[in-house]
Amino acid sequence: MEYNLSDREYAQFRALIYGKSGIALGDNKKSLVISRLSKRLRDLGMPGFQAYYELVAQDPEGEEFTRMLDLISTNKTDFFREPKHFEFLREQILPEQRRSRSLRVWSSACSTGEEPYSIAMTLYDGVEEPGQWDFRILASDLSTRVLAKAASGIYDRERIRDLDAEMLRRHFLQGRGAHEGCVKIKPHLGRMISFRRLNLMDASFPIRSPLDVIFCRNVMIYFDRPTQETLIAKFHRYLRPGGYLFIGHSESLQWIRHSFLSLAPTIYRKAD
Ligand SMILES: C[S@@+](CC[C@H](N)C(=O)[O-])C[C@H]1O[C@@H](n2cnc3c(N)ncnc32)[C@H](O)[C@@H]1O
Repeated sequence: MEYNLSDREYAQFRALIYGKSGIALGDNKKSLVISRLSKRLRDLGMPGFQAYYELVAQDPEGEEFTRMLDLISTNKTDFFREPKHFEFLREQILPEQRRSRSLRVWSSACSTGEEPYSIAMTLYDGVEEPGQWDFRILASDLSTRVLAKAASGIYDRERIRDLDAEMLRRHFLQGRGAHEGCVKIKPHLGRMISFRRLNLMDASFPIRSPLDVIFCRNVMIYFDRPTQETLIAKFHRYLRPGGYLFIGHSESLQWIRHSFLSLAPTIYRKAD
């Protein structure tokens, strides 16, 4: 059974979701909202969308709000998704850092963790003595559910079927017994990453020293142009001069005002 969502109720949800997450739902997304949320309303025994709206609106920082966003947005991700970015990291950025032997990276919408772990593997395998480098990766997302999954470092073996055998041996533990069919990221990668809940809509982020690289991939597509512009300006502030920004392959900065240099499609650099 699907619930009825009136235009007035839909407008309330849109305003609340936009205000708190930047996700801009168009007029054409009403049926998507109904189909994605109806099961949740049923599970909670809600009489209708108005009651659910009141529940989430009373605590927009709370778990139910995050859960609603999880249902509406997609958390789709993959290990080494959009591989050109990892090649660029290995071939262009790492050699530039050879003297300082340090790299600060922010995976700013990290979903279930495949992106920050792919960054960690690229850095670890991209230098001769990873133990002599100071690699720090901040991995953040709005959703506490995906962050918990990311921090566990546990995945179905199916998720890593495209990685080569040598990489699997180096970076993953194979599940046995009750964990058969699962793999777990080895601790040397986990130690490189701090997971944290951060909302990209926040005016500022708890980042003290300038970053070398920011990944913000496949989340800006949900934001409208003014929200994208504000976010890109914030990224510019948090990067060191010469720092890099990667965005998703279906995204572009072409239509927004920004101060980045464009190096290649989806790869940007802050001027030195
Ligand atoms: C499709 S996933 C992208 C994952 C990864 N970056 C990739 O490209 O494979 C989008 C993620 O953005 C997160 N997200 C949506 N709105 C956000 C916001 N305002 N602040 C932080 N994360 C947000 C979602 O929770 C989701 O995990």
